[in-house]
Amino acid sequence: MATHGRPQLRALVAASVVSLCAAVWDQLPELPPDYVKPTTFKEKHWGQWCRNFTTARHTQCPQGSFFHWYTCCGADNTECCIGIQTTFIVIFFWFSVIALFCCIWGLLLHYDLIYPRKDTRKAKQLEQGEYSPVPPRVCC
Ligand SMILES: *[C@@H]1O[C@H](CO)[C@@H](O)[C@H](O)[C@H]1NC(C)=O
Repeated sequence: MATHGRPQLRALVAASVVSLCAAVWDQLPELPPDYVKPTTFKEKHWGQWCRNFTTARHTQCPQGSFFHWYTCCGADNTECCIGIQTTFIVIFFWFSVIALFCCIWGLLLHYDLIYPRKDTRKAKQLEQGEYSPVPPRVCC
């Protein structure tokens, strides 16, 4: 009963799978005559492909790095636009937040706004003779 229960859900899943498989090349683009097929991952060009099936223009962007990447843009979405990696933005953001926190903390410490260097309460206690040192241990 459960397997035949939700035909709408199964149709939705099937439609999703089909739509994922729908972007198939009608005809593979011509490879340049001097093209050498990579045999290792090191040789592989990892640049982003910007494809437009309507205009049949396909361009491969330069490879990105930890700091930057390329996204597709332009009128027919086949040009490469440089962008900053999200990972880098996130790391840079948190690094800045921590650095700013340290700066503010340092200033607060410097101007004795937190953890003041002179503990006035303790100094007063000492002045009034409230301090009682531990007598030295008598040995033997
Ligand atoms: C492909 O190019 C056409 C014509 O410039 C444009 O109208 C269309 O939106 C592009 N398709 C994609 C997926 O960007």
